[in-house]
Amino acid sequence: MRFYVNIDHVATVRQARRTDEPDPVRAAVLAELGGCDGITVHLREDRRHISDRDVRLLMETARTGINLELATAPDILGLACELAPMQATLVPERREEVTTEGGLALGSAEVRTAMRDALGRLADAGVRTSLFIDPDEDAIEASAELGADAVELHTGEYALADMEGRPAQLDRLVSAARAGRAAGLAVHAGHGLTYENVVPVAAVGEIEELNIGHSIVSRAVLVGLERAVREMKEIIRRAPGMMSAEGWLPPIGF
Ligand code: PXP
Repeated sequence: MRFYVNIDHVATVRQARRTDEPDPVRAAVLAELGGCDGITVHLREDRRHISDRDVRLLMETARTGINLELATAPDILGLACELAPMQATLVPERREEVTTEGGLALGSAEVRTAMRDALGRLADAGVRTSLFIDPDEDAIEASAELGADAVELHTGEYALADMEGRPAQLDRLVSAARAGRAAGLAVHAGHGLTYENVVPVAAVGEIEELNIGHSIVSRAVLVGLERAVREMKEIIRRAPGMMSAEGWLPPIGF
């Protein structure tokens, strides 16, 4: 099982102040040191978190592979073909949504045409392709027909289901994963996976890659906050001794 860390929400915190911290490029290094197999970023049309600069730098600095999530906006598709990350996952995108709300609507001829074109261009650029779909057989069939290398099964409904509804949503994922493998597709999964709900999905043998973001960034804020406060407290405590006639130096080691 490959484990990809989605670092979009590190950039969300940065964009809350439109400053330069926290830098998702630095976060990617730490995620890799933590043992992830790849870094996932979603370059959205409205650039609400990840920026073109982030993707360009990640392409140069990541030691693992980059999975670039994108819709079919011409400039973003063009950038994906230019940079040729290891993998591109095509997703639906609506400006007003808080996060990707559902899989691609492959029942629509218009969406299928856009996907066929995007998949062809990405494949010509040497990029492995994946389609983000709801865990349904129709979507699997359409993805295989379109010639994607992989599908990413949307785990959002599984994640949102209550304890009573969860087994049915898990069955749905398992059936879709089996159908995907039978159709010759690699099967990935992601969205809404947390420390509490990941186990049954990670145990599905047909799923070979998980993409997890929000829950990891959320946990990082909490497990890192105590240390961050201690470090600021220490700087404030030492501040009088750090001043001199020439001014002051930023503390080393923080
Ligand atoms: N997979 C896809 C296609 C996504 O769009 C997202 C969210 O950007 C994820 C996985 C990760 O979801 P989460 O942040 O809820 O773990």
